Amino acid sequence: MPTDAIVLLKDEHKEIRKTFRAFEKAGDRAYASKGKLVDRMIEQLTVHTYLENEVMYPRVRDLLPELEDDVLESYEEHHVADVLVLELSAMKPEDERFTAKTTVLIENVEHHMDEEEKEWFPQVREGLSRKVLQDLGARMLEVRERAPRRPSQLSALKKTIDAVIK
Ligand SMILES: [Fe+2]
Ligand SMILES: [Fe+2]
Repeated sequence: MPTDAIVLLKDEHKEIRKTFRAFEKAGDRAYASKGKLVDRMIEQLTVHTYLENEVMYPRVRDLLPELEDDVLESYEEHHVADVLVLELSAMKPEDERFTAKTTVLIENVEHHMDEEEKEWFPQVREGLSRKVLQDLGARMLEVRERAPRRPSQLSALKKTIDAVIK
């Protein structure tokens, strides 16, 4: 099992992209499957942003202060995704704005994941040792067990509050 933090996060990106592509392929009126796919997206994104916010970003910020601006920008991009995820979790697939909101979520998250993979992860890999990345990965696997799966869970809401008061 890979415990390198970057490998783990990229694997999660891959799974998230699969859900995005499936949603894009679903027919306009395929409400049941679109609803299920958005549920899956919500769970995947809630877990993923939690792991990055709570484990990866704080550690990188500590160890590589030169990447601080990128970390802060990433927190904000997660926050935009959190807001859309929270709104979607209260909507029905038949609602007029459901597909539009999901499309905007997909566009935002794609942009963010591309930036992480093309710009940010390579700098993190360069700056941190293999050992640190493996410890971070192991920690993520541990935290994943108790990570929130729905945006309404308290530990997920904490992110939203942090985004405003920190
Ligand atoms: Fe991220
Ligand atoms: Fe990510």
